[in-house]
Amino acid sequence: MRIMTILRRMAALLLCLLLPASAMASTLAADANNTTVQMSDTLYGLFFEDINYAADGGLYAELLQNRSFEYEDILNPKSADHYTGWAFNMTFGATGTAMVKTENPLNENNPTYMQINVEKGEYRFANLGYQSSTFAGGVPVEEGKTYKAFVWLRNAGDFEGQVEISLTKRTGKSLAVPKRFTITDEWQKYEVEFTPVATEDAVLSFIIHGTGSVDVDMASLMPADAFGSDWPNGGLRADLVQTLMDLNPSFLRFPGGCVAEGSYYRENFYNWKDTVGPIEARRENFNTWGYMQSYGLGYFEYFMLAEALGAEPLPVVHSGLLCQARDVKEAPLTIEETKAYAQDILDLVEFANGDVTTEWGALRADMGHPEPFNLKYLAIGNENWDTIYWTRFDILYRAVKEVYPELEIISSAGPVAEGSLPAYAWSVVRSKYPETIVDEHYYMSGEWFLENTDRYDSYPRTTRVFLGEYAAHEATQPNGRRPNNLYSALCEAAYMTAIERNSDVVVMASYAPLMAREGMQQWTPDMIWFNAREVMLTPNYHIQAMFAATVGDQVVASECDTMNQLVYHVVTRTEDKLYVKVVNVSAYPEEMMLSLSNVPDGTAIYTQLTGDRAAANSFVRKDNVAPVSGECTITGGQCTVMLPAYSATIYTFDLK
Ligand code: AHR
Repeated sequence: MRIMTILRRMAALLLCLLLPASAMASTLAADANNTTVQMSDTLYGLFFEDINYAADGGLYAELLQNRSFEYEDILNPKSADHYTGWAFNMTFGATGTAMVKTENPLNENNPTYMQINVEKGEYRFANLGYQSSTFAGGVPVEEGKTYKAFVWLRNAGDFEGQVEISLTKRTGKSLAVPKRFTITDEWQKYEVEFTPVATEDAVLSFIIHGTGSVDVDMASLMPADAFGSDWPNGGLRADLVQTLMDLNPSFLRFPGGCVAEGSYYRENFYNWKDTVGPIEARRENFNTWGYMQSYGLGYFEYFMLAEALGAEPLPVVHSGLLCQARDVKEAPLTIEETKAYAQDILDLVEFANGDVTTEWGALRADMGHPEPFNLKYLAIGNENWDTIYWTRFDILYRAVKEVYPELEIISSAGPVAEGSLPAYAWSVVRSKYPETIVDEHYYMSGEWFLENTDRYDSYPRTTRVFLGEYAAHEATQPNGRRPNNLYSALCEAAYMTAIERNSDVVVMASYAPLMAREGMQQWTPDMIWFNAREVMLTPNYHIQAMFAATVGDQVVASECDTMNQLVYHVVTRTEDKLYVKVVNVSAYPEEMMLSLSNVPDGTAIYTQLTGDRAAANSFVRKDNVAPVSGECTITGGQCTVMLPAYSATIYTFDLK
C-alpha cells in the first residue's frame, strides 16, 4: 500500500472517531457545462465464457447432459465418461446391455454412440439432466409448457419392435403423452413434443419394446419457448437472457477466456468451425474447466445473441498458443502453421460479415441470417505474453489487416495487473501496434481496486484499453468460495468511477466470470448465479447494471471535499441528464452537499445499493442486497444527500 494512502486513511479514521457524524458534512461540486473527456460508447459490456456450466447446463437451453455420448476426459480417459448423465436398464426384470460404439457413427464429428442390446422385457434408459452437489438431478419441466424432444436412432440389424420416447418421472411414471417409433436400419431423427401434466424434475426416457439391438445418438430436450427457439438449432434459457438484456451491454466478448485458447493439447484449441452448422455435426470438445462443450451455443448462436442484445460482437481467437497458464503438453503452432491458421480467422470474419455468395457467408445464410452480423472487433489471444505470443500475433494481425483493414484488433496484456508481463506487452504495443486496443485482465483484492483508482490517469491519452476481465476477490470462505458480497461490489464500483473518468482510454470493460451454475462452479466470484430453475443476482451484478444504465457521453469536471478517503465519485452527462455517482466504501454514513451549477431546480431520482459490508444474496434471500430508488430535490444548484455506510448511489438530474 502506498505510504500516502496509509497516512490519509489513518487521518480519516482518526477524524471519524473524533467528530460526530453531523460535523462530517462534505461537498461534491460540479458544473454541468464544464465537460472534460468524451466517453466511450462501448464502455460496459459482457464477457461470456463456458465456465461454471455457463453454456452447457446454463445459457444454452438444452436440458439433457451428454446428449450425444461424447463425454470424455482427455486428461484421464475412462470409457465410463460416455455414460455420464444417463441411467440404463431402469425397468425391473428387463435384461440388456448398453455399450459405447464407434463403428458407422452418425457422422465423423460425432463418433460415439450407444448400442442397446435387449434380450428380455421393456428396457428403459433415460437422460437425467444435470446433477450437482446441490441438485439431485433431472430435467426441470413445468406443468402446461411445451417441450421439444428428438433422438437419432438406428436398427442395428436384428431389432424387432418399437422405441418409445417419453417424458417421465425417474420412476418411469409418465408425465406427458409418449410416442412410439418403428425404426429403420439407417440413422434417422425422431421427434416428439411433450406438455407435462406436472412440474417435476423429470427424465427423458427411452423404452425399447422388443428385442435386438438399437443404436442411439444425439438426443435433445428443450423448452419450446426458449429464447431464439426459431433458430435452426434451438435457443437459450430465457430467464438468463433477460438478465443479460437488463445489463444493456454494449459488446459481448466470447468464447473465452481460457476456453478460447484451449488447454494441454492442440485438439483443444477452440475451433470455431466445430461450433456452426447442424448440432449433430458439431465436434464436441473437452472443456478446460472440467466438462464437455457441446458447442450447441456456438458462433452462430453467439452472433444472434449479440444482435438481440444490441451488443457489438467481440470474438477472441487463439493466437496459436495453448493456454500459457496451464501445463502445456503440446507445442504451440509453428510459424508456418500459424500462417496457415490465419485463414481460419479470415473465414470467421467471412462467416460474420461475408456476402452470401462467399463460402462462409453462405453458411450463415443457410443457418437463417443472410444479413451480415457487422463484426467490428476481433481479439487475437486471450491471456498471452512474451515473444512466443508477439511473433504469432504479428503474423495473424497482418493477415487480418491485409484483408479487413477496418477491423479493430485487440491484443493481450497477459493475465496480471502489474509487473514485467504487462509492461512488456505495452512496450511492444506502443512501438509496433499503437492502434490496437489492449486487453488487460486482473483479479485483485478489494483494497487493490481502491488503491489503484489512479491507474489510468497516467496512461497516454492515445492508448486504448479493454479491461476484458476483472473482479474484486475477497478471501476464500469456509465453503471454498470467494464471496460475491457488497464490499467486493463497492470496491468494483469505486474503481468504475475511475474507469468512467478515464473512458477516453478505457474504452471497454467487462466483469468476469459472468455466470455460474450453483454447485457446479469452478471459479468464484461470478456475476450471475443460477440453478436448474432460478436465477440469483449478486451485488456485483447490481453495480454493473446501475452503472451501465447511466453511462454518460462526457465526463464533467468535479471536486469532492470530504475527510472520508473511502468516498469515490464521478460526474458524467448526456444531452439532457447529469449522472452523479458516489460510492462510500467506509463504515461511516456521510452527509453530502451536491453543489451543481447549471442544473435546473427540480426532482432528481437516485438508485442506491447498500447494506452490511459482508451482505450477499442467496437462492433463499435473493433480494438481501438489491437496489432501491428514491427522489431528492435540487434547488438553486444544491441538493443535500445522505450516503449510507457501504453504499453506491447514482443520482440522475434532468438538465432540460
Ligand atoms: O474468467 C475466468 C478465467 O480467468 C478466464 O478464462 C481467463 O482468461 C482468466 O484467467
